[in-house]
Amino acid sequence: MKNELIKIKENALKELSNIKNLDSFRNLEIKYLGRKGEISTILRGLSELNDEEKKTFGKEANIIKKKLTEDFNKKKESLSQSTNKYIDVTLPGTQIKKGHIHPITQIENELVEIFKSLGFSVLNGPELESDYYNFESLNIPKHHPARDMQDTFYVDIKNKENKYDLVMRTHTSPVQVRAMQQFGAPLKCVVPGRVFRSESTDAVHEHTFYQMEGLLIDKNINIPNMIAVMEELLRNIFKQEIETRIRPGYFPFVEPAIELDIRCTICKGAKCPACKHSGWLEILPAGMVHPNVLKHGGIDSNKYSGFAFGLGLTRLAMMKYGVDDIRLFQSGNLKFLEQF
Ligand code: PHE
Repeated sequence: MKNELIKIKENALKELSNIKNLDSFRNLEIKYLGRKGEISTILRGLSELNDEEKKTFGKEANIIKKKLTEDFNKKKESLSQSTNKYIDVTLPGTQIKKGHIHPITQIENELVEIFKSLGFSVLNGPELESDYYNFESLNIPKHHPARDMQDTFYVDIKNKENKYDLVMRTHTSPVQVRAMQQFGAPLKCVVPGRVFRSESTDAVHEHTFYQMEGLLIDKNINIPNMIAVMEELLRNIFKQEIETRIRPGYFPFVEPAIELDIRCTICKGAKCPACKHSGWLEILPAGMVHPNVLKHGGIDSNKYSGFAFGLGLTRLAMMKYGVDDIRLFQSGNLKFLEQF
């Protein structure tokens, strides 16, 4: 009987190793481990033996049954895993979702095209900026109260001279001086980019937003030139005449400084949170470049004059698309973004 048991075991394992698919596996399982299978038949035959033999062979038979059950289970697992590798090529595929350009970038691209057509070049500057370019060169000395106009992220890293001098740029204006130093006058450029303020956020304030600086320097540039360019710009963006107003403003790097506001396109002037309940939106601060700034840029203010403006790209996107909360743009909310 012992020999018989060993033979069954050997045959079972040999056959098992040749099995290639689940169907033949199932048949083999029934053949050896099924209710009427070879092992069960042997176990049933034990009843004919005497007590002593029952004990020895019973034990032997159970060990073999256990071993076979284990090996069969392992085989079953590996077979079902490899079966899963088959792909049903007739199933419809999963569609790959295509993204699109972020609404702020769309506006930025549109503006860049407008300015290129007016002969402006498009420049870049660093987001991690020196105190010198962000403030000093723009006529905002250290400890000047005008520094309070822009809540600044001062950065806890030393510069090459081992001084704490870095800030997350609060505006794109530092590139004014960088551009003057690099290219001199005459100069016509725009600088789109990301800027940072340590703000408490609300419907119109964000810690990270986008601006586009404009700078034009040449001989005999005056305020009407500046207003003409800005109105042309707004006409191009909104594709319609929009109501504007000009107020005096204050920025140390321009003199005189103005604020060009547009009628709130969300409430049409009826006053809403997006326009801070004023019916108007500050969208285009600007002014004639201050002689001190020209000097930092290495340009002779007796020969040249110019104007600069700082377009709030994010705010412009709000107006153009009627978005009433600035925070939506960076929220990563696809339901919002997919509308553009
Ligand atoms: N840099 C200013 C700001 O961010 C805007 C500005 C730019 C004003 C150019 C005048 C001229 O607040």
